Amino acid sequence: MAANCSVIEPMTQDHQRLLIIDFGSQVTQLIARRLRELNVYCEIHPFQNVTDAFLQDFGPKAVILSGGPASVVHDGSPRPPATVFSLGVPVLGICYGQQVMMQMLGGRVEGGKISGGGGTAEFGRAYVTPAPTGSPLLTGWFLDQKEQVWMSHGDHVAEIAPGFEVLGTSPNAPFAITADPMRNFFAVQFHPEVHHTPNGKTFFENFVRIAGFAGDWTMAGYREQAVADIRAQVGDRQVICGLSGGVDSSVTAALIHEAIGDQLTCVFVDHGLLRKDEGKDVVAMFRDHMNLKVLHADEADLFLGELEGQSDPETKRKIIGRLFIDVFQKYANDIDGAEFLAQGTLYPDVIESVSFSGGPSATIKSHHNVGGLPEKMGLKLVEPLRELFKDEVRALGRELGLPDSFIGRHPFPGPGLAIRCPGEITRAKLDILREADAVYIDQIRKHGLYDEIWQAFVAILPVRTVGVMGDGRTYDYACALRAVTSVDGMTADYYPFSHEFLGETATRIINEVPGINRVTYDITSKPPGTIEWE
Ligand code: XMP
Repeated sequence: MAANCSVIEPMTQDHQRLLIIDFGSQVTQLIARRLRELNVYCEIHPFQNVTDAFLQDFGPKAVILSGGPASVVHDGSPRPPATVFSLGVPVLGICYGQQVMMQMLGGRVEGGKISGGGGTAEFGRAYVTPAPTGSPLLTGWFLDQKEQVWMSHGDHVAEIAPGFEVLGTSPNAPFAITADPMRNFFAVQFHPEVHHTPNGKTFFENFVRIAGFAGDWTMAGYREQAVADIRAQVGDRQVICGLSGGVDSSVTAALIHEAIGDQLTCVFVDHGLLRKDEGKDVVAMFRDHMNLKVLHADEADLFLGELEGQSDPETKRKIIGRLFIDVFQKYANDIDGAEFLAQGTLYPDVIESVSFSGGPSATIKSHHNVGGLPEKMGLKLVEPLRELFKDEVRALGRELGLPDSFIGRHPFPGPGLAIRCPGEITRAKLDILREADAVYIDQIRKHGLYDEIWQAFVAILPVRTVGVMGDGRTYDYACALRAVTSVDGMTADYYPFSHEFLGETATRIINEVPGINRVTYDITSKPPGTIEWE
């Protein structure tokens, strides 16, 4: 095995590239999403990292300056390098990006007064009407005379820079849309990337057309390039991959397998805390159907043994985390000459967020179950999904022929059913939970609701309650149904099932699952709750 652990650089590819310079807006990632939807490859980089040398190396075909919380009228507020404006490529400034452009190119920005005092700050919906000048930036806009946009700014442009003209105004923003048509510089006060600007997609479509993007970012192209890159990185050496059956690890494994075939070995750690038939399904899919080498680490006895008598949520999580690493390592050690560990790291995990308190800081999610392993085992990382958003991973999975039942799956946590079984875990409780969960998910699928819901599951509660079935008294477990909508799991709302659905589901669970005689529905949002029960 290799001595060092190293993170590989993102893959170098031939497609046209757009650079998004991030000034710390909460919605910068949405700009990237909009562009990727248009088959334009883009990367987000914090302003601190964008130097002249970086620009030369990156070779952007266009640049977008994001919004951000700072005020350009304050000393030391963030700026892009002036070179951005002499590259000869189109530049679009959004909100703070507009203000910084105007300031640097000879216009003037004023600090905003918060509304109420006759000020110019604007937060929320606004309507922009066109100025008489036509512009290719606004093709498909103003078909109904005005466009709804989303404003969120304190400061405002008081004077536009030489060469700029006004393309659109709103009651509080005389310079809502501006352009310098000679240089293809565009600057808008509102946020075209958020869905409260309903025609935002057309706006970006126009911008990338003006910039001459061919729309060459496709999943088929990505797949081909990624396969070539994996082959170049790995050569004839061995790769191991922790396979959980979740979307990210499944797509990672399928892609690497396509690149290097039998040089990939997957380790599927079955901790006995999986859903009904899950272990069997994952192994059948990858080993039998796709011909991957899969080691099925059936270690339920080990995990459930160590969890016996434990009821504290953190203790349970720690036991599972520790055993997971031990088991993975044990199996991985048996793979001769493994030098690489494959991980399903996604783009949102690697984007550096802008921090104004002390330089860029990396936001790395700590959800990877094999997180500490590369250092411990001296493995190099193969991370072929580092450039992709979640829905692009799904698109790649489809491209690779993975069935929808794998690709469209709700997320499932590493500690599995352990955190859906508050209090002490027993095999009997897990069996009941598995059955109830299967009935619940079946109901959701039958009613066509699965794809509307971000995550749904049953938790078995550590209480037994009295009931009556037929002529007999029952004393069985209560369970809670959970279903949430969410974008990223950070916040969530409970799903508003109809009473009919809930009633029918409760009846089915009580009739079909021995051991449960009471069903409740969890209507807590996150925050203040969390999605899982522990
Ligand atoms: P919470 O319960 O924190 O969950 O609101 C947010 C999302 O994260 C998942 N989750 C985990 N995923 N390992 C994982 O891989 C974990 O330890 C873990 N804990 C929570 C949870 O299922 C939800 O999607």
